[in-house]
Amino acid sequence: VVRAAAGEYPILIGAGACRRLPAWIREQISPSSVLLVSDRRVFSLHGRRAMASLERLDVPIHRAIVPAGEPSKSPRQLESIWRRGVQAGLDRRACVVALGGGVVGDLAGFAAATILRGVPLVQVPTSLLAMVDSSVGGKTGINLPEGKNLVGAFHAPRAVFIDTSFLTSLPRRQMRAGWAEIIKAAVIRDAAFFRALERGASHGALAAGRGLEAAIRSACRIKAEVVGLDEREAGLRMTLNFGHTLGHGLEAALGYRGLLHGEAVAIGMVFAARLGVALGLARPETSARLEALLRAFGLPLGVPRRLRVDVSKVLDAMARDKKRGREGPRWVLVPEIGRSEIVEGVPWAGVRAAVRHFLQESR
Ligand SMILES: NC(=O)c1ccc[n+]([C@@H]2O[C@H](COP(=O)([O-])OP(=O)(O)OC[C@H]3O[C@@H](n4cnc5c(N)ncnc54)[C@H](O)[C@@H]3O)[C@@H](O)[C@H]2O)c1
Ligand SMILES: [Zn+2]
Repeated sequence: VVRAAAGEYPILIGAGACRRLPAWIREQISPSSVLLVSDRRVFSLHGRRAMASLERLDVPIHRAIVPAGEPSKSPRQLESIWRRGVQAGLDRRACVVALGGGVVGDLAGFAAATILRGVPLVQVPTSLLAMVDSSVGGKTGINLPEGKNLVGAFHAPRAVFIDTSFLTSLPRRQMRAGWAEIIKAAVIRDAAFFRALERGASHGALAAGRGLEAAIRSACRIKAEVVGLDEREAGLRMTLNFGHTLGHGLEAALGYRGLLHGEAVAIGMVFAARLGVALGLARPETSARLEALLRAFGLPLGVPRRLRVDVSKVLDAMARDKKRGREGPRWVLVPEIGRSEIVEGVPWAGVRAAVRHFLQESR
């Protein structure tokens, strides 16, 4: 259960969790109609099952299917969903169901926040990243050509249904990218969870079955705790951004191609952990353990050689970070495994040199 300003909402986790979706929606929302938002890839794999299940509600089920991929988090696709909703005659008792990864969740969430000034939203994440991160916490939004997530709203879902059986069709690389955010959750807040991941990774047992479900549960619990304490990001919530300062810089510099978000975050976590050590705020062991765990999960520790990154573009994007303070970005640093801190006033000139050095040496 997540406590948000808008009230509490349940997160249901498990293989087959979606079977409970229609009954839950009928009892808790009793909608006049449903607008299912998904992307083409997810809809072609799982749409038939989702539609069949929603049709049990006996209300009109409309759908808006967008192309798969980050470019769909755009004003254009948002408008297409708005108009689809209006043409379908949605009223305030309509319910939006977001079936897909983080792209669909953010886009459908923002549509739900704005259609008729807000209709109920149910998140049904299908990627590991969306299950452990984007579907929980109520942030929604779209990108502009100027940058990521620049327009959006807080719109908490009424419920999150995390059905791990969707993951059987998720490509392995996408799976690994999701693990990066799970590792992030552990490293910023839960040393015991981090140790469990270390044990699991060395036994190779985590990636499947119960280990996966337990890890999703822990990551969601951590995200829900942090968001519950700081929904609007006054401070604590920012710690969820560990690894994202350089990570977002890399994504922007590469034009959101070449690296998946989770991969960029993995690289960004390596940099931030080393920065903590360099500033004398963390012990070297902290970054060594983090790097070993990321490696065990098949995540990159530096930018792969095949990608050309323009370091100046990375630095420009970092300097424009939404979360910057007066002297450049605020940093989330990890003094020890399981504990994170927000550090302001790290000299920008030193960071620039460190980023240059890191990007040259770590590939
Ligand atoms: N709102 C938040 O708090 C928050 C937090 C983290 C990330 N995000 C956002 O999430 C987005 C990234 O999410 P993502 O990594 O899920 O990307 P995504 O939604 O693009 O999904 C990745 C790819 O996997 C496919 N896919 C999804 N589920 C599948 C399944 N079960 N089987 C086969 N293919 C499947 C999708 O079609 C897509 O091609 C970014 O836009 C990021 O900004 C938001
Ligand atoms: Zn992230």
